Amino acid sequence: MSPQQATLDQAKVNEFLGKAIQDVAATFHAGLVLIGDKLGLYRAMADGGPMTAAELAKRTGARERYVREWLSAQAAGGYVTYEPATGRFTLPPEHAFLLLDADLPGAFQLGVGSIHAEPRIADAFRTGEGVGWHEHDPAVFEGCERFFRPGYAMNLASQWIPALDGVKARLEQGGRVADVGCGHGASTIIMARAFPRSIITGFDYHPASIEAARRAADKAGVGDRVTFEVASAKAYPGSGYDLVTFFDCLHDMGDPVGAARHVRGSLAADGTWMLVEPFANDRLEDNLNPIGRLYYGASTFLCTPASLSQEVGLALGAQAGEKRLRDVLTEAGFKRVRRVAETPANMVLEARA
Ligand SMILES: C[S@@+](CC[C@H](N)C(=O)[O-])C[C@H]1O[C@@H](n2cnc3c(N)ncnc32)[C@H](O)[C@@H]1O
Repeated sequence: MSPQQATLDQAKVNEFLGKAIQDVAATFHAGLVLIGDKLGLYRAMADGGPMTAAELAKRTGARERYVREWLSAQAAGGYVTYEPATGRFTLPPEHAFLLLDADLPGAFQLGVGSIHAEPRIADAFRTGEGVGWHEHDPAVFEGCERFFRPGYAMNLASQWIPALDGVKARLEQGGRVADVGCGHGASTIIMARAFPRSIITGFDYHPASIEAARRAADKAGVGDRVTFEVASAKAYPGSGYDLVTFFDCLHDMGDPVGAARHVRGSLAADGTWMLVEPFANDRLEDNLNPIGRLYYGASTFLCTPASLSQEVGLALGAQAGEKRLRDVLTEAGFKRVRRVAETPANMVLEARA
């Protein structure tokens, strides 16, 4: 034992090792979740009840030897339970709800997709250069949509828009909405469904995302009610919008103040900007929790490099917090800013000129 090792608190070494082993196992587990999602293994378990590896293999057309190893890992990770007496594995209904109904594998898809960029991001640490959102693996775009959509589906039409002053009634009558940085259009489609009389346009600077959003709108049966256009947040067309929305994208932009000014100019006189951002407290020490860890990690791979790749490169990061966001809005000339809602994942600000 080296003199340095002799001074170590062995209990703390063991505690940290245990934590790190969990993280290494979770890294492999992320890939296993993607396989379970892609091959329908979770779906088959949810539909079929307790089953052996051979039964799950038969139901899904996957090879039994692979399925057995996958199930063993799922059981070791607490995703499924194992009954030694029968050799059967069970996906508890609560887990099935999150994995299937709440599309939890999308979060893993976002994480795994992001890590593909590790060599480029490591280089960017040395050079200080940015990496654009559009430069990532396509799994990032799809995973991002899947990660955020369930929260929007649960809150956007039922909680967040009603929390804005007078906006719900306006959209019910037929208002004009711009959804900026719309990505694959999850939020745009939800609003189109909820407010069929409104004219809703989604904008994003990433052409492949706009094409995906158009396909998603057609699939959702609202393709005739929404339009999607390639445009940056500082230059999207139109004016007199009753509502402009930004969902989890302002902090990805290089010049959020410039974008905020453009929003102000595009709103109707009494229009509203709804800014949805990742939930964060103002101080780093108050974000040292699992949600903060998730967002700081995503922010290192995605949001910070994306912002640094654009003009100004303010790099707010995904954990900017309300105070820094308010500063951006105030600098752009918004005078009335109010936090109207929050969830563990998101904070919602209403801004008016
Ligand atoms: C984290 S994703 C969020 C996408 C979508 N709003 C959602 O919630 O699923 C950020 C989005 O911002 C877009 N974006 C980044 N910078 C932009 C800019 N300057 N102008 C317009 N869109 C931008 C990206 O292309 C990406 O679709």
